[in-house]
Amino acid sequence: MFITFEGPEGSGKTTQIPQLQDYLVEAGYTVFCTREPGGTAIGDQIREVLLANKNTAMHPRSEILLFQASRAQLVEQEILPRLQRHEIVLCDRYADSTLAYQGYGHGVDLAQLRGIVDFATGGLKPDLTLLFDLDVEIGLSRRQKDGDINRLDAFALDFHRRVRAGYHALAAAEPQRWQIIDATQPPEQVQAVVREVVLAKYSLN
Ligand code: TYD
Repeated sequence: MFITFEGPEGSGKTTQIPQLQDYLVEAGYTVFCTREPGGTAIGDQIREVLLANKNTAMHPRSEILLFQASRAQLVEQEILPRLQRHEIVLCDRYADSTLAYQGYGHGVDLAQLRGIVDFATGGLKPDLTLLFDLDVEIGLSRRQKDGDINRLDAFALDFHRRVRAGYHALAAAEPQRWQIIDATQPPEQVQAVVREVVLAKYSLN
């Protein structure tokens, strides 16, 4: 079973995933945990290029293609072989991040993006996608030590609002795949909901 985790910065997904992994391993499942961009030796090199501060000249189309190159490698090298062995794969961000950030956030044509994303994934879709949802201001302030979001320019806030709205639109279009999780709850409660949702899905598969 292939499970992906989506949400804005500061939504806590990156701390929740290892806890879910521990729980599932304890329950006897074979679980592989990975993340995007990266997750392979080649993907990690691409991640460095994507995140390096010096690469300010990167064109949005180059950025989109680099995300897809990392994803294609991850799917072929790590995800597909494990799914073929009926293992559980947990992935911190996947194709929906491109649609939410580059599509809804930056306004790149969604139909074109879907074509590129499908090419990268070879059509592999998650069985379940958990959206860690929370107010944009809360997410951003969690990330900032002093909690002062006034210094953020309006573009940043608007961008993150579009990303969040995009995630909601994606979830509404495929409700059988998505589960929206209230990420403002205390972390233990979030983890309890995550486990419940995953086990419910697993028992259906
Ligand atoms: P990362 O440090 O992994 O952030 P996070 O902990 O929030 O996952 O950086 C990944 C950043 O890249 C994040 O801001 C989301 C963005 N992103 C895209 O814009 N498009 C994509 O396709 C992916 C996978 C990530």
